[in-house]
Amino acid sequence: MEGKVVEVQAAWREGAHVDDAQYRALYEASVSDPDAFWGEHGKRIDWMTPFTKVKNTSFEPGRVSIKWFEDGKTNVAYNCIDRHLETRGDQTAIIWEGDNPDESKHITYRELHAQVCRMANVLRNRGVSKGDRVTLYMPMIPEAAYAMLACARLGAIHAIVFGGFSPDSLASRIQGCTSKVVITADEGLRGGRKVPLKANVDAAIKRIGTDLVEHVIVVRRTGGSVEMEPGRDVYYDEAAEQVTDHCPAEPVEAEHPLFILYTSGSTGQPKGVVHTTGGYLVYAAMTHQYVFDYREGDVYWCTADVGWVTGHSYIVYGPLANGAITLMFEGIPTYPSTSRFWEVVDKHKVNIFYTAPTAIRSLMGGGEGPVKKTSRASLRVLGSVGEPINPEAWEWYYNVVGDKRCPIVDTWWQTETGGILISPLPGATALKPGSATRPFFGVKPEMVDAEGKVLQGPCEGNLCIADSWPGQMRTVYGDHERFEQTYFSTYPGKYFTGDGARRDADGYYWITGRVDDVINVSGHRMGTAEVESSLVAHPKVAEAAVVGYPHAVKGQGIYAYVTLNDGEEGDDALRKELVVWVRKDIGPIASPDLIQFAPGLPKTRSGKIMRRILRKIAEDDFGALGDTSTLAEPAVVEDLIENRQNRP
Ligand code: PRX
Repeated sequence: MEGKVVEVQAAWREGAHVDDAQYRALYEASVSDPDAFWGEHGKRIDWMTPFTKVKNTSFEPGRVSIKWFEDGKTNVAYNCIDRHLETRGDQTAIIWEGDNPDESKHITYRELHAQVCRMANVLRNRGVSKGDRVTLYMPMIPEAAYAMLACARLGAIHAIVFGGFSPDSLASRIQGCTSKVVITADEGLRGGRKVPLKANVDAAIKRIGTDLVEHVIVVRRTGGSVEMEPGRDVYYDEAAEQVTDHCPAEPVEAEHPLFILYTSGSTGQPKGVVHTTGGYLVYAAMTHQYVFDYREGDVYWCTADVGWVTGHSYIVYGPLANGAITLMFEGIPTYPSTSRFWEVVDKHKVNIFYTAPTAIRSLMGGGEGPVKKTSRASLRVLGSVGEPINPEAWEWYYNVVGDKRCPIVDTWWQTETGGILISPLPGATALKPGSATRPFFGVKPEMVDAEGKVLQGPCEGNLCIADSWPGQMRTVYGDHERFEQTYFSTYPGKYFTGDGARRDADGYYWITGRVDDVINVSGHRMGTAEVESSLVAHPKVAEAAVVGYPHAVKGQGIYAYVTLNDGEEGDDALRKELVVWVRKDIGPIASPDLIQFAPGLPKTRSGKIMRRILRKIAEDDFGALGDTSTLAEPAVVEDLIENRQNRP
């Protein structure tokens, strides 16, 4: 399978933005003279004060600093809305498809403008101004996009918390960025089930105390009854009636923060990744256009949630900056049936479809029938993101969903990178199932070995990026030192991605997965340390170690080794209790799939847990444990193998 190449079809090249020769020339130009390249492409957005400086970046240890277009001023909402009004005011900006297939609507750029201005005025009336943080805890409804753009319009900084996170996780994120305002909905709706968003906000604020959050703005989605705290809580529709739909877009510096997004790392609690204005928008828009080969009038659908970076860059900011038609979907792939994705494609004549391998794998289980009963004739480009796509899922996506007509762009990137760094371009790149292929313009991947030696030619190693690109994160909110430490200290002078990769003889990259203690569950990032700290907070648990293991649908599952306090009995009832505990503490995405009660964990003589051994046992691959000579108590391993949970 690995040798397989799918050549660029003539139809993919026709009308495409770039072919292979153009890609190569542009790439060469972008890395040989970044100032000239980005100086030119920085003009794809409108600037209220044009920039004269382009790149000012340093990856030098102790002095990491990333600035792009620094003396320019612009506004993201202006670029995503206002500048399109003259030419495409009546064109659809957002197609919203509800959880219920009978509910959908089209929002034009002119309507989007009015809605965003209104939302901005509601925020402004509550004291929100440039630089203030606003937390969004929203379902996938148009108001989520209005709220993001309303913040951007005022120069306020949004921090979205995925609606699947628990009240405790929400509380720590609200506190982390000291948001005085929270925007939410009464309830979310997913797969016919209600999600108690407002009640979760209430629980989060109860935990925080009353001195931080001053306003909670509640969008009515289901109309379900919720408690409203007088003076603090207001229904959005009532507040919106009090304001006009005119609100100027505040010009902000290119390096003014646009948003904070919390993401899991290998240690400690989630970090607030900070993205700024100018470089981020240029990069999101440009990658959206080239990677998806977006053309005027195309209907583009990214199935992500706005709670993740993919929703930020490729549902809202990239597409709208390009004047695109972007589809926003409230529901899930399996409701009311497993044909839903393809029915939505037919209903709205979707041309470009972007989803995650985990969704493909879960639908593959249902066979071709639910796909083949739909037409999908409108599809032109398919995209994948979030985790490595295994060749079987790739083939099914290509053959069954795309009827062998559509290129698959396997896009590798991260919350930290702001936009896609490695991906095929539809008219230019011969595909290899399972490979993210080649770097985007301006991106300089570098492979290093464990000692940091730069590898040449075909190789396997750790993936770094040698120089800055405009969409890169700028800092960890409130902790620049953690930013330097996390990303620039392992291999000094380079950005370290945390991913392992292989580079083949054609210079194609094959991402093999995280090499740190981050696991990727259904394309969602989870730090093993977070799950461990949740488990050890349980009164019966003495110690816990969490690792990932291969999972047929989720990509990786969560495997927890738990040592109980003396006198406690490990049984199925306690397993269930611990799963409920973690779900409640962090959220359903952190639920352990397998829990093994272990009398002891394998440690070195200096007391360090040997995770390598735990990973092997979780993978059911204990024949290859490697060097165990440093184990303090070899008998512990025998017991772990004996009682392993992941048996075929
Ligand atoms: O391990 C890589 C994996 O997802 C990680 C980033 O996760 P997150 O910040 O949540 O962003 C996900 C959406 C951009 C990466 O370090 N990953 C993402 N895309 C791919 C991937 N692994 C392989 N192939 C991909 N296309």
